[in-house]
Amino acid sequence: SSDDGIILKIPKVELHVHIEGTLTPQLRWKLAQRHGVKPHFGNGNHEFKTLEDLERAYDDVISSAQLPLSGQSDHLTTFFQAYYSGFQFLRTKRDFSDLAMDYFSRAAAMNVRYCEPFFDPQGHTSRGVSWADMMDGFKEAQEKAANELNIQSSWIMCFLRDQSPESAMDHYKAALKYKDMIVGIGLDSNEHDRPPCLFEELFTLARRDGFKLTAHCDVGVKDTHCHIHQVAATIAGSGLDRIDHGLNAAEDAMLIDLIRHRGLAMTICPWAYLRRETYGSIAERLRVLVDAGVKVCIASDSPVYMDDSWIIHNMLLAKRMGGFTDSEMCKMVRHSVEMSWAKPAVKLAIM
Ligand code: ADE
Ligand code: ZN
Repeated sequence: SSDDGIILKIPKVELHVHIEGTLTPQLRWKLAQRHGVKPHFGNGNHEFKTLEDLERAYDDVISSAQLPLSGQSDHLTTFFQAYYSGFQFLRTKRDFSDLAMDYFSRAAAMNVRYCEPFFDPQGHTSRGVSWADMMDGFKEAQEKAANELNIQSSWIMCFLRDQSPESAMDHYKAALKYKDMIVGIGLDSNEHDRPPCLFEELFTLARRDGFKLTAHCDVGVKDTHCHIHQVAATIAGSGLDRIDHGLNAAEDAMLIDLIRHRGLAMTICPWAYLRRETYGSIAERLRVLVDAGVKVCIASDSPVYMDDSWIIHNMLLAKRMGGFTDSEMCKMVRHSVEMSWAKPAVKLAIM
């Protein structure tokens, strides 16, 4: 349709994609073969005899995620199982480079010109992967993508909030050696009973060191309004620099005011929310935020575990959900450029 045309053609910025959430079944299969291990999926002893079997397992994450709200925590676990089970195939510099290059190629084909992918270092160092293999692999792909695909990037290092603040701090210090590659610090993984304020010390230090700061406020999490309030107004002095998700803010006029007055921007990944919320309730809240004048951009989260929904699919879904016009969609793309942490020259080149 013509919608697809405009959304595909416009130069884009991707500000919320977990690089580990772009591990396709094809690449998982290839890496398993490379290392002589079984391409398992984190769900017990199930073995995959063929790539087609593995592809079907990816499909199952998706279909289970779209069941009704009852039993939602089971389906969230299924998502995290699928996501984290992919980590163990990432071992060498070449693996990390292949993963990132696979994403950059796909992104470039969708006309993404700049992106800030997340990565989860704790999920790799805990398995004995060295910082050098991980970061040199990412860097190799990043440079190749810039030179050959005309796509610029900068990394956001995420900490796993279900692990200790001490572990996050240790990783933070180890990563300072790679500061040139990393533009921001984020917070992801399971948010249940893990408020952002647990990481106050880390965020304060990271801001002092010159990093930009963001945190996930996942949709439908217990205490979500409290978590959003911390991110919007209290952590590291007066709040962070961006909010990842945070759609529940739409239910609270005070939070909306706060976010708008601070000029805080939000990365919204509509497809990710379908596993926990109804289409109508997502649509309504997205409209509320946009109509309130909150800076929103559309992004994709962990595409391979969410129905293979990349940035263009999320933009198409958002357009349909909100009934947005082409010019409203373009405005959200402009927001993504403004709210990005790209250098001014890179921003200018995209706009
Ligand atoms: N890590 C990868 N995807 C995530 C998500 N959707 N929420 C929280 N942590 C994540
Ligand atoms: Zn995310």
